[in-house]
Amino acid sequence: MPNGELMAGRVAVIAGGGGEIGGAIARRYSAEGASVVVCDISQEKADLVAGEIVAAGGKAVGLKVDVSSEEDCGNAGRFAVQTFGKITDLVNASATLSPDGNVETLSVAAWRNALDVNFTGVFLMCKYVLGHIRAAGGGSVVNIASSHGHFGLPGRSAYCSTKAALMHFTRVLAIDYGPHNIRANTISPGPIDTARSLRRFGTRENSNKVRGRGQVLGRTGTVEEVAAAAVFLASNEASFITGTDLLVDGGQTAFKGTALADIHQSAT
Ligand SMILES: NC(=O)c1ccc[n+]([C@@H]2O[C@H](COP(=O)([O-])OP(=O)(O)OC[C@H]3O[C@@H](n4cnc5c(N)ncnc54)[C@H](O)[C@@H]3O)[C@@H](O)[C@H]2O)c1
Repeated sequence: MPNGELMAGRVAVIAGGGGEIGGAIARRYSAEGASVVVCDISQEKADLVAGEIVAAGGKAVGLKVDVSSEEDCGNAGRFAVQTFGKITDLVNASATLSPDGNVETLSVAAWRNALDVNFTGVFLMCKYVLGHIRAAGGGSVVNIASSHGHFGLPGRSAYCSTKAALMHFTRVLAIDYGPHNIRANTISPGPIDTARSLRRFGTRENSNKVRGRGQVLGRTGTVEEVAAAAVFLASNEASFITGTDLLVDGGQTAFKGTALADIHQSAT
């Protein structure tokens, strides 16, 4: 439960903040006292989340940012400092909805787009925000990977590879920036109850029914449960935690009893 203090005085830039998980993280960071720049390729979605935060009494602004654009990422860093005076936190939660396919059927354009947004986009946001966090005396980076970075799925080479790469990128980020008092970690969510699942399962009810079977806890997770993990990693409660990955997957990765048919269907 938010106590309003875990992130007092902090300023967070949240890429993909107009999305379901990014939005939940933005709301929770704000509830814990942070000012938030909600960045998303959709200005409308960014403004919606920022508007909700302001209506709830927090400080937030929406900003259109395409994380695959170097110019947009540079602008995000400058805008956050101009607006709130500093940056202490970065969250990367953007991702494409990449199509399925094996190496023969997946288009080069779809492959490149997944890498550009899910992986290079994180590099670019870090490139243009970390200097500001260092200037503020330190802080935290939380990158949203996936349980599918831990195990593969048929037809999902682009998505799974970017998420595995993101974990290793973040370890090296932690090594490079530990001396600057900047901690960097990933969260690997398992199946979370979001609209992403609708394209594969039709309804949330069906998604929960089918995908819930793959977890030890017998259900899908909520965006608030991912946001709670992000706040923990960003806060001083995690002051000795860096370069790690936190699975928020209800035991999905630990549970090896899932039938292959279920794994085929559990893509996120
Ligand atoms: N939903 C799940 O079950 C689940 C599971 C594991 C990991 N994840 C990861 O969590 C993150 C958030 O997922 P979500 O379920 O909230 O999805 P979502 O689609 O609601 O959020 C993703 C957001 O990224 C934005 N975006 C897309 N391309 C962008 C770009 N080029 N620049 C900036 N923003 C861009 C979208 O507009 C969207 O608002 C993703 O990284 C996803 O891979 C989700």
